[in-house]
Amino acid sequence: MEVRQLFDPGSSSYSYLLWDADTLDAALIDPVRDMVGRDIQLINELGLSLRYTLETHIHADHITGSGILRSAMNSMVLAHENCRSKCPDVLLKDGDRIPLGNNRIEVMHTPGHTDSDVSYLIPGMAFTGDTLLIRSCGRTDYQYGDAGTLFDSITRRLFTLPGDTLVYPGHDYNGRACSTIAEEKAYNPQLGNGTSRDRFISIMQDLQLEQPRSFLGALPSNLQCGLSG
Ligand SMILES: [Fe+2]
Repeated sequence: MEVRQLFDPGSSSYSYLLWDADTLDAALIDPVRDMVGRDIQLINELGLSLRYTLETHIHADHITGSGILRSAMNSMVLAHENCRSKCPDVLLKDGDRIPLGNNRIEVMHTPGHTDSDVSYLIPGMAFTGDTLLIRSCGRTDYQYGDAGTLFDSITRRLFTLPGDTLVYPGHDYNGRACSTIAEEKAYNPQLGNGTSRDRFISIMQDLQLEQPRSFLGALPSNLQCGLSG
């Protein structure tokens, strides 16, 4: 499986293009609508067939490119079954395996940032969306988020992956591209170094966060695969 990390400077979002090097079947995790032209050009240059766009969750801070890509490239939209949207072609649940050429992408439900977050797993890599960020984690104060649930998703699920598993997040605001499970276990300031569940919940409650910049527009649009708003 080949992987290419893509960045949207407007929202500091990462998208990930995955493909089977033999069959050239491809999936794009968390496409950003503003960057769809770039992504289509890359997919065409590499000679790939885009089978799926995979949402890690319904985003509040940028608009998804999944609907435009479905029309342009005949790809299917996949998201977790808790997403409250009629737009996806396939609703995912924990443990699903998405075939991609001769490979499989495993779905791990990792709620807490929202209740529809999933991480996508391939051998040696975890695409963690906004559940686990580099030295950080997703906020838990809106979209059915819950700090205790997020703690459990990270410590009981993601932190049980091998320590050398590469962590590819949904965002980074400090110029970092990836991490590992072992690094986050040791150095994540909110969750690492054996932080207790109660301590984590109080850390998250004490955060004074502003609403995301595109909060009002992005959510309704993303419930329609980014085809409105
Ligand atoms: Fe998010």
